Amino acid sequence: MINKTELVNQAVKGMNRAYTPYSKFNVGASLLLKDGSYVIGCNVENASYGLTNCAERTALFKLVSEGYNKDDVVAMAIVGETDDPISPCGACRQVMAELLDRNTLVILANLKGDTKETTVEGLLPYMFSDLK
Ligand code: THU
Repeated sequence: MINKTELVNQAVKGMNRAYTPYSKFNVGASLLLKDGSYVIGCNVENASYGLTNCAERTALFKLVSEGYNKDDVVAMAIVGETDDPISPCGACRQVMAELLDRNTLVILANLKGDTKETTVEGLLPYMFSDLK
C-alpha cells in the first residue's frame, strides 16, 4: 500500500526548500521508491530566469544521479500553493515521460489538502518517446 499522505508530506518538505527569490512560488516534488525511501525536489531559480529548474525535474534528476531508475519508483507527488491541485508544466511532463514508467501514479496536490490522482501518461497522452 502506498502511504499517499506521507508521499505528499515529503513533497511539502521539498517545497519548503525551494529557492525562489524571483517568483516566490514554491513547488515541491517527491518520489517514493520501492525500498521505502523518498527522493524529494524543489524549484531552484536563477537571475537568468530561463535557467530555473522546476521541482519535478530536480527530483527526477536526483533520482538518476543517485543511481536509481524508473523501475525503482512507486509513485510521485507534486505540490504547490495553488487553488486546485498543481499541474506540472509541459517540460516536466516530457521529463517525467522519459524517466518514469507511463503507468506510474502521480498525485497532484495543494496546501489545502486537495489532491488529484493521475499517471504519467494521463499527464502526457501521445507522448514522444524514442525508447518504447
Ligand atoms: N514551477 C515548478 O517548479 N514546477 C511546475 O510544474 C511549474 C512551475 C516553478 C518554476 C518557477 O520557479 C516557479 O514555479 C514559477 O513558474
